Amino acid sequence: MKPIKVGLLGIGTVGSGTFNVLKRNQEEIMRRAGRSIEITMVADLNIERARELTNGECEVVSDGNLVVNHPDIDIVIELIGGYGIAKDLVLKAIAQGKHVVTANKALLATHGNEIFQAAQDKGVMVAFEAAVAGGIPIIKSLREGLTANRIQWIAGIINGTTNFILSEMRDKGLDFDVALKQAQALGYAEADPTFDIEGIDAAHKATIMASIAYGIPMQFDKAHVEGITKLEATDIRYAEQLGYRIKLLGITKRTNKGIELRVHPTLIPTRRLIANVEGAMNAVLVQGDAVGATLYYGKGAGAEPTASAVIADLVDITRLATADPEHRVPHLAFQPNAISDLPI
Ligand code: NDP
Ligand code: HSE
Repeated sequence: MKPIKVGLLGIGTVGSGTFNVLKRNQEEIMRRAGRSIEITMVADLNIERARELTNGECEVVSDGNLVVNHPDIDIVIELIGGYGIAKDLVLKAIAQGKHVVTANKALLATHGNEIFQAAQDKGVMVAFEAAVAGGIPIIKSLREGLTANRIQWIAGIINGTTNFILSEMRDKGLDFDVALKQAQALGYAEADPTFDIEGIDAAHKATIMASIAYGIPMQFDKAHVEGITKLEATDIRYAEQLGYRIKLLGITKRTNKGIELRVHPTLIPTRRLIANVEGAMNAVLVQGDAVGATLYYGKGAGAEPTASAVIADLVDITRLATADPEHRVPHLAFQPNAISDLPI
């Protein structure tokens, strides 16, 4: 069977991780996907660095339009970030009948309704496992593993940068700014780290999880968002002395009045598992009516953990795109979410 051809938009932290993991594990990935998956074209503004990273193994261009319009490309991976050019290219890829994989939670939380509608109209898939909690397969767990449940609430540490900063401030006494610089150097932070430290990134992720868990459209504008910039080292110290740890939590809850959606620093007793999640690790607690409480833990940011989720989506789409359309089971993971419109 001929390989699935992939075009990659943006070969920065996550893009290079994706390229490298796909290459390193290509045999296993091919067996699991049922056919070979090849990145045949990469677009990045920094064409020299992109050429170096891809080492002559695929075509490198600076204009993403060349990728989304290329007739041989089956799947487009968007790893540029932001809502500008990324939105434009994702919509163009969909219009060209290409499936899309993206890690761009900012884009999905704010323009996801439009994007999913466009994908449904065109009959293509948009997959985004990497958009929430990096390498933790939380989207799949919510949609598949917990599909029998009425989800009651979700609470999690879903921003690696802020958890890293809070851990470093507490353990090593680092200043906020120094810890943030380290998080940026390690590839955890967003291009604009305000999104991390002001809680916006966590709110994007909570918005996406709420949409899946409750079958509602993306409603980021309804979220209460508070970051960690007002916290001081003394707050962290006093919390410790009282037996608590401060964590930035993303929370979404089903209530009698509708859905709650909020991000804010929270005092958690140190005996709780989630209080001991350190560095850039993420942890998501999900309460379902049948299963009870479940906990998902792992690396929430960084090149290869995020690549792990991007490639899982590539494999899923490859399997589905390869299946005989007559017998293809509609895949919940790629359907729009508007089952109901509970108020937030
Ligand atoms: P990077 O900034 O490291 O990578 C983005 C890449 O896209 C850069 O190489 C950039 O080039 C390139 N780029 C910018 N504009 C264009 C354009 N118009 N056409 C082609 N290429 C362009 O970001 P990340 O890899 O960290 O993040 C990518 C996405 O993944 C974002 O949506 C982010 O939120 C998400 N994400 C990131 C995680 C992480 O741990 N880093 C984890 C989960 C999701 P240049 O550098 O020259 O601007
Ligand atoms: N900036 C994000 C974080 C990347 O720190 O969690 C992962 O989504």
